[in-house]
Amino acid sequence: MRIGVLHGPNLNLLGERDPGRYGRRTLAEIDEALRIRAAELDAGVESFQSNHEGALVDHVQARSAELDGWLVNAAGLTHTSVALRDALEACGRPFVEVHLSNVHAREEFRRRSLLSDLAVGVVVGFRERSYLYGLEGLVRHLQESR
Ligand code: DQA
Repeated sequence: MRIGVLHGPNLNLLGERDPGRYGRRTLAEIDEALRIRAAELDAGVESFQSNHEGALVDHVQARSAELDGWLVNAAGLTHTSVALRDALEACGRPFVEVHLSNVHAREEFRRRSLLSDLAVGVVVGFRERSYLYGLEGLVRHLQESR
């Protein structure tokens, strides 16, 4: 089982960006924790981060055929990107949406996600553990749908 991890804009700054909200783990540390947990679950992960909407869309198009599902933190694009939504819908792979922060306890505009209604599930608010919980949920979903 192979999972693609998609990190959106500004997540390359994790570790130094607003640690009170997003935690102190760097993106590399989160990716390593995902790799270890995925191996325990008999799965593999490949991670990709971009600050550019089109690069994320290109990546989904390029990699989906090789993957069973996606773990997605689209960051700010969650709230705005019809293009990324369309790419995830068109790729035909299930995905779980994750957020480090509890987006429902922040500004009003963060409560709207253009991805949630397409997602298998959504995990928010557990900082870096959101990714791990999301991975576990996605792997279980994929196992059950085999
Ligand atoms: C985020 C929440 C988004 O609203 C924000 O734009 C981010 C990070 C999160 O993981 O909490 O960049 O996706």
